[in-house]
Amino acid sequence: MRIGIFGAGYVGLVTGTCFADLGHDVVVRDIIPARIAALRAGKVPIFEPGLTELIAANRDRLTFTTEIAEVVAGADVLFVCVGTPPTYSGDADLSAVWTVVDELPRDGRRVVLVMKSTVPVGTGAKVRSALDERGLTNVGYVSNPEFLAEGSALKDFRNPDRIVIGSYEAADAEVVERLHAGITAPIVRADVASAEMVKLASNAALAVRISFINEIANVCELTGADVLTVAEGVGLDHRLGKHFLRAGIGFGGSCFPKDISALKQLAGNVGYHFQLLAAVIEVNELQKRRVIGKLQKHLGTVRDRRIALLGLAFKPNTDDMREAPSLVLGARLLAEGAEVRAWDPVADASRLLHGAVFCDSVLEAVDGADAAVIVTEWEELRGMLTPELHARMRTPLIIDGRNLLDPAAARAAGFTYEGIGRA
Ligand SMILES: NC(=O)c1ccc[n+]([C@@H]2O[C@H](COP(=O)([O-])OP(=O)(O)OC[C@H]3O[C@@H](n4cnc5c(N)ncnc54)[C@H](O)[C@@H]3O)[C@@H](O)[C@H]2O)c1
Repeated sequence: MRIGIFGAGYVGLVTGTCFADLGHDVVVRDIIPARIAALRAGKVPIFEPGLTELIAANRDRLTFTTEIAEVVAGADVLFVCVGTPPTYSGDADLSAVWTVVDELPRDGRRVVLVMKSTVPVGTGAKVRSALDERGLTNVGYVSNPEFLAEGSALKDFRNPDRIVIGSYEAADAEVVERLHAGITAPIVRADVASAEMVKLASNAALAVRISFINEIANVCELTGADVLTVAEGVGLDHRLGKHFLRAGIGFGGSCFPKDISALKQLAGNVGYHFQLLAAVIEVNELQKRRVIGKLQKHLGTVRDRRIALLGLAFKPNTDDMREAPSLVLGARLLAEGAEVRAWDPVADASRLLHGAVFCDSVLEAVDGADAAVIVTEWEELRGMLTPELHARMRTPLIIDGRNLLDPAAARAAGFTYEGIGRA
């Protein structure tokens, strides 16, 4: 089939490239000319493992453009993969989605508009009405929410846990189902509103688990239990499972914070107070700040102390800095008068953390530091317990915000070590 993609970001590029890899002809459109120019020159503007190679391998079936006419020309299916960032009110900003809908030309051919962007429940109904009002009854509408995780996006596309397809017309759902031929996964056929809610509910459920285990970790710290052992024991219960039970300094990223906030606001807008999500958000905000208390416990004050932040991206294997806990932590430290040195192998936070010193290596970041905080669990940090690193620090204190290291090994290497929820 011929596929048009709106948005050359994490979702649009992965979706477009993977569909090209399945044999479809794909045109990806973005409104940022520099992004399209880079892609045409073979440079991928985001960091996602394997993506550059897969784009190169499918060049014959992939076209990049800024032109609306090129993306819709001859397309059987149009995927909306534009951003839906949070507004100040916490609602989702749908302006990019509406621009796509409003710009759709009237050419009378049957085409299916597929919403991959995460949108509030009810968006599909509004888009359907807007299309009908403009006489675009030839445009079908399908909600096909995206569940990929940055860092493992290609694998997630090829081996999804499920493919959710919400439609008004069965024929449109079938087109989208056929597109996925070659991918083995349960298909959940739904009405549009339910498909939209599956996405929001899934992210909310994952966030609930993270805030839950973080609170368990905090109580472990006060009672002498070890959250890793607790999580293992809890996760072996088949009713619960082991995923998303890793305690840490809270979740961030482009999806969880905004989608949970959007669901809470969506509920509020229709008169329901979503108390559980309010608590999940509050727990997460407090969790990001707990590291400051741990540093103060060991250093007395963080003022004039040199703190190394190791890892800045909201999680490993991505360069995405959206809502990264490192930003809250770094800003809090700088506000307290600490000297912040920061390292990340791929993420660039230089325009987001004013006043921090950005370093090219872990050793450079910890040079003369009073403490090193593991903020993102990059693999390269696993081997950091070296005599060289110990010697470079003024005080060999490690606060492990992701429970990446073995506490016994860290202490044996001469470090003062504190994780999250460890005995
Ligand atoms: N990133 C993820 O891990 C992830 C996972 C699942 C779902 N989602 C959802 O998918 C959507 C996209 O997320 P993302 O991370 O890819 O965003 P992104 O910000 O990386 O990319 C969005 C792109 O859309 C472009 N754009 C804006 N208006 C456009 C228009 N009118 N025509 C063409 N392009 C336009 C932007 O310039 C940008 O490059 C969001 O709704 C997000 O919540 C993201």
